[in-house]
Amino acid sequence: MKILGIESSCDETAAAVVEDGRRLLSNVINSQIDIHAVYGGVVPEVAARSHLEVVNPVINQALSDANLTWEDIDAIAVTYAPGLIGSLLIGTLAARTLAVLKNKPLYPIHHVESHVYSNFLNEHVPEFPMLALIVSGGHSQLMLFRDHGDYEMLGQTQDDAIGEAFDKVAKIIGLPYPGGPAIAKAALNSNPLAYHLPKAKLTGAYDFSFSGLKTAVLRAVQREVGVDLNFPSTGLAGLLSDSQRDNFAASFQRTAVETLVDKTLKAFRDFNPKSVVVAGGVAANLELRRELSERIPINIEYAPIGLCTDNAVMTATLGYFNSLKKQPVDPFELEVNPSLSMIE
Ligand code: KG4
Ligand code: ZN
Repeated sequence: MKILGIESSCDETAAAVVEDGRRLLSNVINSQIDIHAVYGGVVPEVAARSHLEVVNPVINQALSDANLTWEDIDAIAVTYAPGLIGSLLIGTLAARTLAVLKNKPLYPIHHVESHVYSNFLNEHVPEFPMLALIVSGGHSQLMLFRDHGDYEMLGQTQDDAIGEAFDKVAKIIGLPYPGGPAIAKAALNSNPLAYHLPKAKLTGAYDFSFSGLKTAVLRAVQREVGVDLNFPSTGLAGLLSDSQRDNFAASFQRTAVETLVDKTLKAFRDFNPKSVVVAGGVAANLELRRELSERIPINIEYAPIGLCTDNAVMTATLGYFNSLKKQPVDPFELEVNPSLSMIE
């Protein structure tokens, strides 16, 4: 079964074809990072306009890269929730229209759930029960999957998502958007013990909180450069030396990674899953991968780095597993949902 996936929930317009939820036939991603970098973050209206310009060429490219025509496609899977409303609308409307015109079944895909499925193209398919650490720009959550579509939320962030914290800290210390890769690079040959940053203490055993960590970086930078609490955060980066900046990147990354791994390890011990997967943009972080592999006593097979950030391979892959269990939706009825959680 060949499924065309379409993903446009944030700032990547992506289309891909995956066969039987296992074999990647094509993977096209048009990233808008350069367009948004000048603003230091994603501008929703600009994102929607860019999706509109490229959605059709991206879909056509996914078909031609796979050497397929519409005849060969068995179904369409599209991200309809959650995300930026204008962005979601473009991909969803394209998918709805194509489902009608080409007479294909249409499967709606939850973006956060789909991130987990970037791990299903690995050599070994993850076994259930599967513990999933989902860490992206918009989400940080620990989930226990008993089967496809059968999952429980163990914990989630109480404020900022971890990717958002990487992006905000990068801004404070003067690194470009997106902050995750920039911080990882700056941290490479720097001292992760240079600055002590606190870890949040929460009542929920598997919950996260990253807003305090971001503020702790802000206060530590203010102290380091000798200004008071009221000094604007936008003026701080210019006062840091390159080595101070890189040491802040390394210290922040160490604290953030340790927090994620502490909670994952606790959940692993409490629920004894058969597999552990990491998903979402922050799963591309090599320090996170290194520390997880070191501390979690089970073999973790990581998704290719390029499938951690937003793509449509994961959309098509989840589309396949959904098609085995669920009915397709009416393409005339499908509405986007910008804030839908994985757990109702
Ligand atoms: O999954 P994703 O592409 O979009 C959302 O669904 O949010 O994740 C984007 C997030 C950004 O916050 C970015 O800074 C972060 O993933 N990210 C990283 C790395 N690569 C991307 N964070 C840490 N280390 C990385 N190497
Ligand atoms: Zn994402």
